[in-house]
Amino acid sequence: MYQDIPIKVTRVAQSRIGQVDFNNLPFGVEFTDHMFTADYIDGEWQNFQIEPLKPLSIHPGNMAWHYGQAIFEGMKAVLNPEGQPLLFRPDKHIERLNNSAYRMRMPDFPKEAFLKGIKMLVELEKHWIPKGEQSALYLRPLMIATDVHVGVRPSKTYKLIIMALPVGPYYNKPLNVLVQTKYIRGVEGGVGFAKTAGNYGAAMYPTELAKEKGYDQVVWMEPKEFRYVQEAGTMNIMFRLKDKVVTPMLTGAILPGITRDSILHILRDWGIPVSEQKVDINELLAAYKRGELIECFGAGTAAVVAHVSNLHYEGFDMGFDASSWELSKKIKQAITDIRNGKVEDKWGWTMSTAGALEEVVIS
Ligand code: COI
Repeated sequence: MYQDIPIKVTRVAQSRIGQVDFNNLPFGVEFTDHMFTADYIDGEWQNFQIEPLKPLSIHPGNMAWHYGQAIFEGMKAVLNPEGQPLLFRPDKHIERLNNSAYRMRMPDFPKEAFLKGIKMLVELEKHWIPKGEQSALYLRPLMIATDVHVGVRPSKTYKLIIMALPVGPYYNKPLNVLVQTKYIRGVEGGVGFAKTAGNYGAAMYPTELAKEKGYDQVVWMEPKEFRYVQEAGTMNIMFRLKDKVVTPMLTGAILPGITRDSILHILRDWGIPVSEQKVDINELLAAYKRGELIECFGAGTAAVVAHVSNLHYEGFDMGFDASSWELSKKIKQAITDIRNGKVEDKWGWTMSTAGALEEVVIS
């Protein structure tokens, strides 16, 4: 039913694109001209529209600010070699957004409306898609509570917004990472699997402490024994042990990464053994000392594949120099090539926006 919903499109009078330096695109700074929005009122989503991006006027009593009903996604669109925009796995992103919504007692957003709206937005903003191989149009769907109310209960109204940002790489260098043995991120039964704002807010203090000591990021550990690895601050984490790749299994405490899932597909397709399992830090350290832990890398939409140059655990540095990043470089290229439409998309992960604005009246 929602594939037929009307989406009103209102264009900006004057685009800002001429003010943007596409040769210098730090992550998260520049926004395109338009956003997709919808409102949840009286138990249903309505007011679907693409409109000029502008600040929202929000009452100080807005419940999202007080009680944390705020969830988001991060996804990417790029241009294929023919210059046509391609979205990467948008169906998985709306599925994950709705899983986050369910856990935070927020309403489902209809998949058909999401796909239709995001395709129209990207088609409208296609001139903003940067051309560099590691650049992209980063899409940030966000759902927030909008009831004005003091007192803890789920909001009855919500807003969904999709913003678009032309971005370069999230990380410009390999990462020096600290295994965190005091603070925790997620527990089984908690909200670790949800992309909810509070998970990121709670991570800031321990991450800043690590940065003060010269680290770029932390690796979170399961909270009972601080023995099993969970994920890195902004991405999932993978280890190459000789010719096998291991990664923490999804327990509900960690984010079910879409890049993580894509990499596992690619590795299995290449015949490389992969294991989603409990990853014991002591076993990693022992393997490193035996020369069997060859590579460590992060996997996320923003980060894509991030090489780890050092993993620090309780006084011990596990260093990985650039000559060891053989498999992670190959994976990064493979996922980038599929995303950019340069090689066969055998799993049907990319979605074209072609035709998304046909028959749409733009005012
Ligand atoms: C993403 O990878 O898209 C995220 O949302 C992570 C965030 C830290 C930028």
